[in-house]
Amino acid sequence: MHRSLALLGGTPTGILPAPQHPTFTPDAIQSAAALLERGETVGLGRTHSSIVNAEEALSRYHGGRHALALGSGTAAIQAGLMGLGFGPGDEIICPPYTWGGTVSPILACGCIPAFSDIDPITGNMDPASIEAVITPRTKAIMVVHLYGQPADMVAINAIAAKHKLKVIEDASQAHGARINGTVVGNFSDVSAFSCMGWKLLGLAEAGYLTTSDEDVFWRAAMTCQHYGRAGEPDFPKHYEQYVDSLVVTFRLSPVIATLFPSQLEKLDREIAGRRANVDILRPMIADCKLATLPDYAPGIEPSFHIVNLNFNIEEAGISRETYCKALAAEGLEIGPYVPTPIYKWKRLLWQDYDGPEIWWQRILRDYGADYRGIERPGTEVKIARDLLIGWNYTVANTVAMERIAACFHKVEANIDALRDWERGIEADATIAAVKAARRAVALHKEHQ
Ligand SMILES: Cc1ncc(COP(=O)(O)O)c(C=O)c1O
Repeated sequence: MHRSLALLGGTPTGILPAPQHPTFTPDAIQSAAALLERGETVGLGRTHSSIVNAEEALSRYHGGRHALALGSGTAAIQAGLMGLGFGPGDEIICPPYTWGGTVSPILACGCIPAFSDIDPITGNMDPASIEAVITPRTKAIMVVHLYGQPADMVAINAIAAKHKLKVIEDASQAHGARINGTVVGNFSDVSAFSCMGWKLLGLAEAGYLTTSDEDVFWRAAMTCQHYGRAGEPDFPKHYEQYVDSLVVTFRLSPVIATLFPSQLEKLDREIAGRRANVDILRPMIADCKLATLPDYAPGIEPSFHIVNLNFNIEEAGISRETYCKALAAEGLEIGPYVPTPIYKWKRLLWQDYDGPEIWWQRILRDYGADYRGIERPGTEVKIARDLLIGWNYTVANTVAMERIAACFHKVEANIDALRDWERGIEADATIAAVKAARRAVALHKEHQ
């Protein structure tokens, strides 16, 4: 006997909400408050002990790589590209399915993004698609570990070595994800992380880069930190004459930096909780045909910033929108991520563009970058199938997982009723339009 779907007037299954994220320890909150009380809001690089402590803690977490604490993940990527010396005319290969913040720093350096394809199951860069976009002007591969799932760094680094390209990891969504026991961020020339509050290492707003190359580190600091932090003992003597305040300021306040050590201390514990919950959920929904979790190869340990599933459109016989609506009515918020491949975004298609101009569009135009007509089938499939659950379940909780599984099972068991409902809506376009308008108004109100 199937209970009626909440979307069709039945009782919602209901889920247990994830715990608050981020949380801060009382000591960290006190330290930040003390800095505010004393008016110590400016660090200018390592002149404040909070920033020294933050960078040392980050460096320890990343196996001794140099760590530069910055204002955001986007800033960290841009600083990394500048540290590597890239600029106009340099092509950087990147995936077309990621947060725009992976690509915007490439543009902000005057470089040209070249889009690879992605694996349609994980959404990560497909190494097999990289060589087709390499040209004599290609300088680097920007990898994203999407949703906390490590990308195939062995294959990607082999291609980079063969073509003498640099590798940058955008690990903004993947703190603590591991490949054969090593945390991501350690598989590249430069790695960049976002620490805005929704990320695994959530602060207020922050980011950082890591590199094992001292020269890249100081060159990055010289581009975006007050006087390149030239007062520090390790600053290279031969760069001193070039230091000035011609910097794109990406600095971090000590008030935020003071939160880093305690957030790092609990990061792996929270990730273990996220993983444990996926392990609990996986067998519970193994019999579901409409939404499936990817399998990961041995040695690949995602950190589950987000849980990635794929919708089986063929089997479902309903749109993903209807499926997600039915799950949302049961209490489970689920939905797709990036709505279209980045190579289709208007601000890259300068040829047909009629909006407000941005300076890097001139670079794309002068370079002749043409993204029209690009086809990346893996990307299109992932975008059609994508289903995400925000995953702040940082403490193992079987009951919470049972409730999530119950939502999936209930919707799947009632799929025929859902198909009828969807057909009914399509038959009466006027009612559907009115309903959609009401929903949009309600949503708009919610966000005001
Ligand atoms: C993959 C990826 N790259 C870059 C960024 C940009 O980070 P930030 O918002 O801290 O600039 C994000 C943030 O959501 C991201 O998810």
